[in-house]
Amino acid sequence: MIVTIDGVAASGKSSVSGGVARALGVPYVSSGLLYRAAALLALEAGVDLRDAPAVLGLLEGRGVRLEPLAEGNRVWLGQRELTADLHSTRVDKGVSAVAALPDVRAWVDAQLRLLPEPFVAEGRDMGTNVFPQAQAKFYLTASPRVRAERRAKERPEDIPAIEAALTRRDEADRRQITPAADALVIDTGPLDLQGVIDVILSTLPDCRS
Ligand code: DC
Repeated sequence: MIVTIDGVAASGKSSVSGGVARALGVPYVSSGLLYRAAALLALEAGVDLRDAPAVLGLLEGRGVRLEPLAEGNRVWLGQRELTADLHSTRVDKGVSAVAALPDVRAWVDAQLRLLPEPFVAEGRDMGTNVFPQAQAKFYLTASPRVRAERRAKERPEDIPAIEAALTRRDEADRRQITPAADALVIDTGPLDLQGVIDVILSTLPDCRS
């Protein structure tokens, strides 16, 4: 059983996927972390983020591995854990460039398709490209303003800047973020986290473990 949860940046995908996965008793898979790992390795190696052969060489040569746990995903480079370094500002800024490289996308897709079912997969193109055969597909949206407000809970003065950055990322990720034709689109604006999880679970009666 595979459930896919795609959507725009900061739409709550990770928290929602974690909640749904816990309720189902399965792990969730955060595909964005593999793109983030690609960006981090390229930045650390001083490689141009648009240089597909060089970025792919780093990924293939050095044993990058996603560990999809129910309580949170971890990413490893051999024995070194990368997880804590994957949400830095420089990775946030660089990740769209490596995610635009078809070779990097193919590498990420291949890693994801090796994972044992069942799981909840979260990203941009889980329901369209990677797991078109998924049993249930969801796509989360919310306006840039709502997403910026959620991100800036402790710092309301930053909302316009965060909203502008999110809009830029939406634009950079645009090619990847089309809902699958058979996905249920959920506007998370009027809902809190549990509300979104409940909508998803209510459409999954046969998948509960
Ligand atoms: O979900 P996230 O913010 O961690 O994703 C990081 C970046 O990776 C984001 O810029 C979009 C890209 N991404 C993608 O292109 N396809 C995916 N399936 C997941 C993420």
